[in-house]
Amino acid sequence: MTEAVLLVGGQGTRLRPVTVNTPKPMVPAAGVPFLAHQIARAADAGVTHIVMATCYLAEVFEPYFGDGSAFGVHLEYVIEDEPLGTGGAIRNAARRLTSGPDEPVLVFNGDILTGLDIRGLVESHQAAEADVSLHLVRVSDPRAFGLVPTDAESRVLAFTEKPQTPEEIVTDQINAGCYVFRRSVIDAIPEGRPVSVERETFPGLLASGAKLYGKTEDTYWLDLGKPESFVQASADLVRGVVASPAVPGPRGESLVLPGAQVDPGAKLGDGTVVGAGARIEAGAVVQGSIVLDGATVRAGAQVSASLIGARSVIGERTVVDGSVVGDGARVGADNEVRAGARVWCEAELPDAALRFSSDR
Ligand code: GDD
Ligand code: MG
Repeated sequence: MTEAVLLVGGQGTRLRPVTVNTPKPMVPAAGVPFLAHQIARAADAGVTHIVMATCYLAEVFEPYFGDGSAFGVHLEYVIEDEPLGTGGAIRNAARRLTSGPDEPVLVFNGDILTGLDIRGLVESHQAAEADVSLHLVRVSDPRAFGLVPTDAESRVLAFTEKPQTPEEIVTDQINAGCYVFRRSVIDAIPEGRPVSVERETFPGLLASGAKLYGKTEDTYWLDLGKPESFVQASADLVRGVVASPAVPGPRGESLVLPGAQVDPGAKLGDGTVVGAGARIEAGAVVQGSIVLDGATVRAGAQVSASLIGARSVIGERTVVDGSVVGDGARVGADNEVRAGARVWCEAELPDAALRFSSDR
């Protein structure tokens, strides 16, 4: 049996600066709350017990995920009164773990989408008799991540969270936010106070000579911290670029959920998902986007790489590109919403109010 802790809390996930008045883990990606993909992928890899460590109220998750049986796992929730940080949250979740002191426990950040071979990480962890094994990926700009240089035997040499100076950037390998811990290492994290696993636990373990291994696996990996990447993740799930058993339909260029109305004269592509009760009118083109439940994309509108909130309306001929339209917002006809714009929930934009071009 393998157990896992899923980290879903902290300040970072309180859905800023977006959209939808829903905590980010519950915003749908490829038709289901994002977290469903992580749970389904873990279950697929043989995980049988997941402890969700969160600062949110249980009523956010429980109505959807329940006891996890729909996913083939036993799911429990532990809720922090105050955010305990990543390490504190893992420690707090430990009271629900049943693994013995030497057994492996998986830990996942809740805001990443990865094609990691989870079983492979557990196996190499056990073969190396490691204290902690970390999945690492290479990125071009590591400044927003935890930097993890390793030696020729993959042993972790240092852990530098959010490197500040050019001198600190000694590698392009970063912490991908998925670990295997020896259970006893979790139990040694101080209890009852905030602890950062990145800033305190890992550096402390390294200083004490513990065995930390990094597994640099060149696999699909996306940090969903930004809405743009969330939209990308959804499109990649729809298209099957990364596999998730939780996608409610066959892989393809679009996913139209039951109850959506797509006019035959509309064009969908690049992994677009159209939610229940949403309406895409004739001549509209929607590419690589998420259209949430009950939204309307009017005739001739062009939507690309964007998140269109629930019940919002995109007016005739309006262009929305790389942007977020909040729930219930109404964007009038002939607007251009581009380049990372955020239309706030319930906001109203009159016809032709926002243009980047000078043609009107
Ligand atoms: N329960 C709980 N309580 N969860 C928390 C808390 C907390 O107080 N603080 C953070 N988390 C969860 C977040 O919900 C997220 O799933 C995960 O822990 C990581 O926290 P973030 O706030 O998203 O950190 P980050 O994105 O800046 O950096 C982390 O992820 C990078 C990869 O995406 C670090 O682990 C980096 O080292 C890593 O490279
Ligand atoms: Mg993050």
